[in-house]
Amino acid sequence: MAFRTIIEPFRIHSVEPLRLTTEAERRAAITRSGYNLFALDAGDVLIDFLTDSGTGAMSRDQWAAIQHGDESYAGSPSWHRFADAVRELFPFRHVIPTHQGRAAEKILFSAVGGPGRAIPNNPHFDTTRANVEFTGAEAVDLVIEEGRRPQLEHPFKGNMDLEALERFLEERAGSVPLVMVTITNNSGGGQPVSLENLRGVRELCDRFGVPLCLDACRFAENAWFVKQREPGQAERSIPDIVREMASYADGMTMSAKKDPLGNIGGWLALDDDELAERCRTMLILTEGFPTYGGLAGRDLEAVAQGLKEVVEEDYLRYRIRSTAYLGEALDRAGIPVVLPIGGHAVFIDARRLLGHIAPLEYPGQALAVALYREGAVRSCEIGTVMFGRRADGSEEPAAMDLVRLAIPRRTFTQSQIDYVIEVVAYVAAHAAELRGFRITPEPPQLRHFPAAFAPL
Ligand SMILES: Cc1ncc(COP(=O)(O)O)c(C=O)c1O
Repeated sequence: MAFRTIIEPFRIHSVEPLRLTTEAERRAAITRSGYNLFALDAGDVLIDFLTDSGTGAMSRDQWAAIQHGDESYAGSPSWHRFADAVRELFPFRHVIPTHQGRAAEKILFSAVGGPGRAIPNNPHFDTTRANVEFTGAEAVDLVIEEGRRPQLEHPFKGNMDLEALERFLEERAGSVPLVMVTITNNSGGGQPVSLENLRGVRELCDRFGVPLCLDACRFAENAWFVKQREPGQAERSIPDIVREMASYADGMTMSAKKDPLGNIGGWLALDDDELAERCRTMLILTEGFPTYGGLAGRDLEAVAQGLKEVVEEDYLRYRIRSTAYLGEALDRAGIPVVLPIGGHAVFIDARRLLGHIAPLEYPGQALAVALYREGAVRSCEIGTVMFGRRADGSEEPAAMDLVRLAIPRRTFTQSQIDYVIEVVAYVAAHAAELRGFRITPEPPQLRHFPAAFAPL
């Protein structure tokens, strides 16, 4: 290419207004919400980086596909288009549509979890962990050591620690119903997993007779990193790499709110006929008939089209580069971020930036609140608030205290990102003034969603 600038491979077709707020309004809003950013009204937020889940902009062709939505209860043509688009990339025998990723997790772990069982991952995301633990099973995180060190550069920081997995399976294979690998690993920084690592996990699974299941929400971003970073992969197409990733697994869970570019949706896919039958029975109880799951026909259409768009290289080049643009600017400004920059988000190392706030006083929460108060930027704590509570009710510091700036797909412009860079730099310059928090009421599962905080 003759020019260096990697541009958005689209132009804006319809716009949503954003409301500018005053600092006084933001102080009032964050106090009203109990210092929990999930409790804010979205209308009080300027740049919403809470999540990249379901928040992306759909394309003209997705909106057009929605018009083809067929709402027949059973056997709708929209279901066939959806199932074909899924199988084109993930050729599993059974595709079970759900309304989002956690519904797929709930169904899968209801079938295979239970007391005494353990499920390794690299690591678990919050809903995966909660759904595993809800059944009484144990969620075990076995990411490589490099993946726990925010500033350490490594091309595949999402990789599973194969030695640790081998030791774990030697001791407990009998109680492991499946191994999960999350591509890319959201809670570890949006870091990719290499094909070589997946092959290694597969070999161990074969040796110990345990199935392997992908949590594949960000499969296209993972495939792009494989193409860029893994020796010998540069010339391959993204769909080809995706199919190789799928070939190592016996099944997958998916939130179509991420890389499939939907605002809602998900699926569970499996090769095992008997397990699929049990999961379908649970689907009918909790989600709906197997040809729509929890979705309308129009949602199935939007996801089917999204799956075609997300594997386009121009899109992925822009997507990964624009995330890196934010992360590299923060890194240059001396703000500690997880390196290398992940696919869907930039993760700030709040434990390091706010070294004066102890992990059990939630430095990530303190930083997230300050980013909102100063600049109306909504981010998400991924640290001790999210992961610090153990199944027995005790609390300990999470492996890292991160604040995630998750970037909705195809939604914000470069000048909006430049604004975020300024806000983060301003807050970082005043980091010493920030104080920690304590949690007031504390629900037993996924406490970060409903919890309220009080400043210390
Ligand atoms: C890695 C991973 N797995 C599962 C989920 C759950 O998906 P959903 O929000 O659609 O329930 C998420 C959501 O952020 C995720 O990032």
